Amino acid sequence: MTARTHWQAWHEPYADENSPLSRRLRLVQQHIAVWLDQRSDERLTVVSACAGQGHDLIGVLAARSDALRVHGTLLEYDPGNAAAARTAADQARLANIAIRQADAGRLSSYAGAVPADLVLMVGVFGNISDADVERTVAALPQLCAESATVIWTRARRDPDLTPALRDWLRDAGFVEHAFHAPDDAQFSVGVHRLESSPQPLDPTRTVFTFLY
Ligand SMILES: C[S@@+](CC[C@H](N)C(=O)[O-])C[C@H]1O[C@@H](n2cnc3c(N)ncnc32)[C@H](O)[C@@H]1O
Repeated sequence: MTARTHWQAWHEPYADENSPLSRRLRLVQQHIAVWLDQRSDERLTVVSACAGQGHDLIGVLAARSDALRVHGTLLEYDPGNAAAARTAADQARLANIAIRQADAGRLSSYAGAVPADLVLMVGVFGNISDADVERTVAALPQLCAESATVIWTRARRDPDLTPALRDWLRDAGFVEHAFHAPDDAQFSVGVHRLESSPQPLDPTRTVFTFLY
């Protein structure tokens, strides 16, 4: 991570409900809610990489009566964002949501938090090299429980990486359930489900480093 992006200020467009970031958030939240509605399990596990202030998962759970069945871990490097996520989770009385100030590029950071039934890779793939995206996608089965869902985002700035990214997901054993790529915005949101076997976590590996 470098000093070039102020990752707390990065969240400011969420204050405008018409911003592309807010539109992206609503799509991610819709898919989290649909996933919760589809899963009747008494206990579900969620991990969010580079979770920022946790608007997506915390925002959904804050409005749900079944929030306590979700045991989630938010990995976030920036201490201010991690503190904001903690405050939001506490205000929503989400006792089963842990905030870990950690480097989500290191698989060791996920120890004890995975395998997860839902993996959020939101705001990650646009901030790392293409090679790191490929490496991270190939490692996703290490974060996943059986039949886990992955919700991910990627800007489609030129050259658009999402065709390759979707191929890499297929190669890693995922089946695509949704892909949103609005004509009037650069963001995209994908939803994939693991159809192959989960893989054991290799805590010695680092799969990405932020560029910006
Ligand atoms: C593009 S923002 C996305 C935040 C959140 N997922 C969202 O969509 O609202 C990227 C976040 O990743 C965090 N970050 C950067 N490098 C990281 C790393 N190595 N491990 C964990 N978090 C990191 C930043 O502090 C920032 O909050």
